[in-house]
Amino acid sequence: MARLPFITFEGSEGCGKSTQVQRLAARLEKLGVPFLITREPGGTAIGESIRELLQFAPQSAGMTPETELLLFEASRSQLVRELIKPALESGKCVIADRFFDSTTVYQGVARKLDRNIVRQLNAFAVGDCVPDVTFLLDVDVKTARSRMQQPRRPDRMEQQSDEFYEKVRDGYQELARWQRDRIVMIEGWQSPDDVEKEIWDILLTRFPQLVSKSEINNQKSET
Ligand code: TMP
Repeated sequence: MARLPFITFEGSEGCGKSTQVQRLAARLEKLGVPFLITREPGGTAIGESIRELLQFAPQSAGMTPETELLLFEASRSQLVRELIKPALESGKCVIADRFFDSTTVYQGVARKLDRNIVRQLNAFAVGDCVPDVTFLLDVDVKTARSRMQQPRRPDRMEQQSDEFYEKVRDGYQELARWQRDRIVMIEGWQSPDDVEKEIWDILLTRFPQLVSKSEINNQKSET
């Protein structure tokens, strides 16, 4: 049977991807499908230290875009080898809250770093570990901003201008046009229930093994 899929979620802050990651996990849990959730930057002990450095450490105020790029890639290369590949190889589905498309868009488009170098570093960081499907939750900047206003301190990336987030949105849309086979763009302004259903329907069509695997697991637990 085909292995379970590697699914990534992308979009700007406030697009609702973390909610959808949790909702998908709840569906898989109910079906008895084994899964792993990851987030970027972070996910491993090394990655979480890098996340703190990238987002909150006082010394990160003067971080150059080049350093930022390398830190995101460092976090990712650890995550892929320590968690994602072993999980897929052991028969789990992997749900990632951000992966290399974030770097393509935030560092390559919004920060305007050399896109070729970004592409090469992404490839170096992930090796052959490429998502089977990516859900891009597309929302306009105003909606995203309003959802970001939570009672917590904004991280370094969230302090960027609206212009930066317009570039992020455009970058994601362009990427989705180029990679239609892998990236599915979802209208993120819909209700969380509608987004969840759209995502689930697509997953069942593309990866029927999600259900057959769970049927087998359910049968095992019944016997
Ligand atoms: P979030 O996952 O809570 O949205 O926060 C991660 C932040 O880091 C977000 O602002 C996007 C940014 N980011 C990049 O700029 N490049 C990357 O490669 C990744 C994974 C995240």
